[in-house]
Amino acid sequence: MKLILPHIQYKMSFLEALKEFHAEGIELQFDEKKINEDFDAFAEEYQARMRGVDPSKTVPDTLFWLIDNDTFIGRFSLRHTLNKRLEQYGGHIGYYIRPTKRGMGYATKGLALTLKEAKKLGLEKVLITCNEDNLGSQKVAKNNGGVLQDVIPSLENGKPLMRWWVTLH
Ligand SMILES: CC(C)(COP(=O)(O)OP(=O)(O)OC[C@H]1O[C@@H](n2cnc3c(N)ncnc32)[C@H](O)[C@@H]1OP(=O)(O)O)[C@@H](O)C(=O)NCCC(=O)NCCS
Repeated sequence: MKLILPHIQYKMSFLEALKEFHAEGIELQFDEKKINEDFDAFAEEYQARMRGVDPSKTVPDTLFWLIDNDTFIGRFSLRHTLNKRLEQYGGHIGYYIRPTKRGMGYATKGLALTLKEAKKLGLEKVLITCNEDNLGSQKVAKNNGGVLQDVIPSLENGKPLMRWWVTLH
């Protein structure tokens, strides 16, 4: 299992996974047309964030793909720093595992790998947020040493949102 930057080698597997996400109503903000027509431009656009040149509202972040047995498993987004919004919603790391690969420990292992990348960036602790009713995500945070700070109303929908901190060793 490995965490990589988006790579054309896994394009087909990634596109299959996108269909699974769409089927459950999750839009991952990936431009499918661009992926098909110009993968390099797609990859560049996402990794530009890493260099802090994303002109939109976000902070620099790195987009990783979790790969196992040559298959796209999920994606992990590592924000290099927090802003006011991310402090309230989103935190440093967001993750999605494709529907057909859930319940197999992938999010737990993928988060562990992403935490190593966070440490390489010089972060000492990272914030992870999840909806209180997302039991799977709560466990993923706890499995990786997450300590609950508090539960606040989500900026997205006002529902209870948990904020977890993981200290990096
Ligand atoms: C939440 C999510 C990332 C979990 O991924 P996963 O690969 O299935 O997680 P894991 O297999 O590592 O499971 C971790 C733990 O959660 C439990 N779990 C997973 N899904 C669960 C669910 N729906 N309900 C209850 N427990 C669940 C597992 O049994 C496991 O428990 P254990 O540590 O006691 O063995 C995945 O369901 C997903 O991508 N959901 C949609 C996007 C999302 O919610 N992202 C998180 C936003 S904060």
